[in-house]
Amino acid sequence: MKRREIFAGNWKMYTTHAEAMDLARGIIGGMGNMGTREVVLFPPSLHVRDVVNLCKGTPVSVGVQNMYFEKEGAFTGEISPAMVKDAGARFCLIGHSERRHVFGETDGQVNKKVLAGLEWGLEPMVCVGELLEERESGRGESVVRSQIEGAFVGLAGHRMKTIVIAYEPVWAIGTGKVATPEMAEAMHCVIRDVLAGLFGGEIAGSTPILYGGSVKPDNIKGLFGMANIDGVLVGGASLKAPSFLDIVRVG
Ligand code: 13P
Repeated sequence: MKRREIFAGNWKMYTTHAEAMDLARGIIGGMGNMGTREVVLFPPSLHVRDVVNLCKGTPVSVGVQNMYFEKEGAFTGEISPAMVKDAGARFCLIGHSERRHVFGETDGQVNKKVLAGLEWGLEPMVCVGELLEERESGRGESVVRSQIEGAFVGLAGHRMKTIVIAYEPVWAIGTGKVATPEMAEAMHCVIRDVLAGLFGGEIAGSTPILYGGSVKPDNIKGLFGMANIDGVLVGGASLKAPSFLDIVRVG
């Protein structure tokens, strides 16, 4: 089955406003003729509106790295899905491992954010992934299974149409230790199996699943060559236009 192919850059808590504009300009300018490939940028939320404006009329989309699930209210420090929509973003990253492990975000919160994102017409990119000790103790697969099940509680199958999943093993994030293509492919198959159980084979077969964790221009080929890896979510290597473009180009 032909699925969307998505190349996403998560800029995390990096870039001044000027650096963000330069980076976005560099990426847009270098896109050239990259076919039907989807490119999504996740700048820090303060820069989102301006990056959205730069990307208008280009094949590049923009998303936020996180948001709260309420529309508005006394939630100091948070941004709402309504604000994200108003800023012109299309995607929202949800449940990134840094949200889960640095800020204690739970599967229940991830679920509420997924539902809120859909409610506001955003496209959630839902992140899952196991810790090193979970993998080493043989629990990697069950952790990822329960993260997927937890993220989609109460979701009707037809709402999966705009969902993207990113598998990011925590031990591979920012460490230079990329999962082998075979390891990533195996977990992507587990994720499809969970989706099949929840929503049936058609949705399982059509949901894009990206890999993230130390993706670089020199390892993209092997990863993207796997049947169930539909693109990548890139951290460090997305902060320089040439390396991000090399990834998009090779993939
Ligand atoms: P790195 O590519 O820096 O390992 O980060 C991956 C990531 O967390 C993307 O969301």
